[in-house]
Formats: sequence, C-alpha cells, structure tokens
Amino acid sequence: MLQTHENASLKNFNTFGIEAYARYFVEINHKEELQELFTDAKWHKIQCLVLGGGSNMLFTQNFDGLVIKINIRGIEHRINHDEVIVEAGAGEIWNNFVNYCVSWGFAGVENLSLIPGSVGASPIQNIGAYGVELKDVFESCEAFEISTGNFVSFNNTDCKFGYRESVFKQDKKGQYIVCNVKFKLSTKEHINISYGAITAELEKNGITQPSIKDVSKVVSEIRVSKLPDPSTIGNAGSFFKNPVIEQQVFDKIHKQFPNIVHFVVDKGIKLAAGWLIEQCDWKGKVVGETGTWKNQALVLVNHGKATGQEVYNLSENIIESVEQKFGVRLEREVNIF
Ligand code: EPU
Repeated sequence: MLQTHENASLKNFNTFGIEAYARYFVEINHKEELQELFTDAKWHKIQCLVLGGGSNMLFTQNFDGLVIKINIRGIEHRINHDEVIVEAGAGEIWNNFVNYCVSWGFAGVENLSLIPGSVGASPIQNIGAYGVELKDVFESCEAFEISTGNFVSFNNTDCKFGYRESVFKQDKKGQYIVCNVKFKLSTKEHINISYGAITAELEKNGITQPSIKDVSKVVSEIRVSKLPDPSTIGNAGSFFKNPVIEQQVFDKIHKQFPNIVHFVVDKGIKLAAGWLIEQCDWKGKVVGETGTWKNQALVLVNHGKATGQEVYNLSENIIESVEQKFGVRLEREVNIF
C-alpha cells in the first residue's frame, strides 16, 4: 500500500540543501506503484513534481502539491557483439550507473562520471560534460503517462534532445514520469578525450593510452577540483546555461572583449557563462548565506542557511550584471519552484 505523507521537508531531497515543505510527498519503488497512485483522481487535480536526485532544483517557496520521489532501482545489461544495452531504473544514482559501466568496461558514459542526480533525470535535461551528452548514448526510455496510466516508450528521436533540453522540458512537460532508461554503449574502448581539460590532466598524469577507467578517474578529479561537493556545500551544478549567440552579435562583443571564452557550435557561438560572470567580479563572492563558487563562477552555492529566495535574488543580480556588461541575457539551467 502506497503511503503519502503531508507537510514533508524537502531539505534532504534537494542538493542545494534548501528548507521547503511539500504539501504531499510519496516515494515510488516500482513503476506499477505509479498506476496505483494515479487511480486516485485527487492527484490528477493538483500540481505534481517528480524528484530524482533533486540536483537541478531550487525551491523558493513551499510546494503546494504532490512531490513524487522516484526510487525505482536495478541495473542490468545485454551484450550483443560490440554493443551492449544497459538498462537502469530511474531511481539509480547516476554515478553508480556510470561506475557499473566503467567496471564492466562498457564505453560511452565515462566522461559523465560524478554528475550528481539520478538516471531518470538524465534524459530530461540531456545531461552533458567533457564533450559527451546523454543523447550520444541514449537508446530509449520507458515513461509513465499520467493522463492515461499507460507506459510509453520514447526513442532517441522522440526525445528531441538539445543542449540541456528534451521533449520532457518542452511539449510534454509534466505529462510523463521516466521509469527506466536504456543506454547503448560499446564493449570496445572508444575514448573521447577531445575536451582540453581531460587531455591536459591525462598528460599531467603521464597517461598516453588511456582506458575508460583512466578517463573516468581524470574526469572525476577535474570535477572535484572545480565543483563543490553538494554533501558539504549545497549547490545544483551549473546554475545557468552557456548562452549561444549569433555570429554577428558575437563579432561585436568580441571586438570589445578580445579574450572572451567562446566555442563554435551548430547554432552559432557558445559563450562560457562562468567567464562572463567572473568578468563581472562575481567569482567566489559571498552574499549573505549564498554566493558563487570560488573555482567556478557558474555554480551558485548555499553556505549553510540560505533560503531559496536568497539564491534566486543573487541569480537575478548576476543576470543583470552580465546583461549590462555584455548585452547577453543568461538563462537559468536550474528549475525554479
Ligand atoms: N571559466 C571561467 N571562469 C569560471 C568558470 C569557467 O573563466 O568561473 C571558463 C573556463 O576557463 C573555461 C570555460 O569557461 O575556459 C568553460 O569552463 P568549464 O570547462 O568549467 O565548463 P562550463 O562551460 O563552465 C559546462 C557544463 C558543466 C560541465 C562542464 C564540463 C553547462 C551549463 N555546464 O560548464 O555541466 O561539467 O561544461 O563539460 O553547460 C552542469 O550542467 O551542472 C554542469 C556542471
């Protein structure tokens, strides 16, 4: 029998460590429990929020609806020659899934080592790091359709993946709950070390022919050195997206700021939001209980007792400064509630 709780604290369920309460809260351990839950018409009438690892959320107020914490577990794989399909429950911790793949020698997700969050959240915002995005290894996922109570499969095309985007954040927002994800990985070692920071770190360690274990280790080391550990300092990783602007707009900015960190991408020029924020003197700044991280200005942190509103206000001020100096408006990557 499913147990829903009232007025539940969300402090331990968001990596910012912000105190906020959910009017109702339920934990789901098996996908069938979602069908059971939604047979009650009550839950169709109120706002629902699905929580994985809570690593991409900022609560600025209490949540006046039902929070559904997904705990669906299990990882298994099926090898077919050079390919392997690994299937993981949405509630698995992302990095445990990565470790599973790395220890079996399955290549494809080692660059995504140590990203906080759950497997179920990974397709929602097409997580990415160090030259790899989820869409590069995503085969399909099974999701619960709230309105019908059916389980629906989404393949890679169905998900309409973009930079930190998918159909689950756009057209189908709030309509599906991801239950499990299938990944297509390789039993051969295909190493992707195109990202400069990885190459530099491998060289520093004297590794010339890296294995996927080496890549995973190096990526983890880089992350630890740059990003705060949410178990000690509340944060949600990159708070903003890196803005992509048109070439003409870029040319103007570039003239004025010749050192601007940028990358050419399909749709224009991607700017490093961390660099823009640092240029506005926000890097490492402490503002009350909040601030930006000393080693990576793109990360906003909770120094202990920050409220969600405080963090939000800081993000507003940062957006304003960057817009004033560069004429570029930053967009939040983190979901605000
Ligand atoms: N930079 C600065 N100052 C800073 C931060 C960065 O000048 O305070 C410069 C760096 O020197 C570098 C460039 O900006 O030249 C890029 O920095 P970094 O490699 O740290 O990556 P990022 O663009 O800031 C993105 C992702 C991260 C991901 C890294 C590595 C986004 C919004 N963020 O950050 O993802 O780990 O690349 O691939 O795309 C996340 O999404 O939560 C996240 C952590």
